Amino acid sequence: MLSIGLPGSGKSTWFKRHNILPLSSDMVRILLFDDVTEQSYQDLVFSTLRSMLRARLLARRPWNYVDATNLSAHERRSWIKLAHDFGYEAHAVFFDVPPEVCIERNRRRERNVPEDVMQRMAAKLRPPKFEEGFAKITVVRLRGKAGESAAAGPEQAGDTQPDESEPPDLADAEY
Ligand SMILES: Nc1ncnc2c1ncn2[C@@H]1O[C@H](COP(=O)(O)OP(=O)(O)O)[C@@H](O)[C@H]1O
Ligand SMILES: [Mg+2]
Repeated sequence: MLSIGLPGSGKSTWFKRHNILPLSSDMVRILLFDDVTEQSYQDLVFSTLRSMLRARLLARRPWNYVDATNLSAHERRSWIKLAHDFGYEAHAVFFDVPPEVCIERNRRRERNVPEDVMQRMAAKLRPPKFEEGFAKITVVRLRGKAGESAAAGPEQAGDTQPDESEPPDLADAEY
């Protein structure tokens, strides 16, 4: 299972809420450098992440999660191929949260991504498609105001406005 979403879209929070400890670049940075903020050796971080997933797939673990932004089909491709090479389905969880919300949350964080980088990432983000090889795509988005049910499809994404007066809840929609 691959997460897809901008920094601040709530990926790590979602995994935590589901009691899942996913493989992530942050985890690898802690394991390798004792420092989650270490930004050098990116290639080493991602090749280690890949090796760790490969090890899990070799060990036939039933569920395997990667917490990363995976913004473009290009970035997702090698993960999907790795899953398929080992006879696994690839599933996507897409955090369809408006960029403005992610940028605002990111701004409030202590370890944050520079705003111009956030803008560039937002421009790069492409929703996952079944044609990429995903067997299942789950969309996670902000719930509308209290009482409203979650939007059912991606075409309704613009209908839900984040309500700053109450902490927004997350709704999962599978399709
Ligand atoms: N459903 C949510 N509603 C409101 N705030 C959230 C929600 N999910 C995450 N956040 C907040 O947004 C920030 C980024 O969340 P995080 O899960 O770390 O995002 P990511 O892993 O995608 O970068 C955190 O400060 C978190 O508390
Ligand atoms: Mg995260």
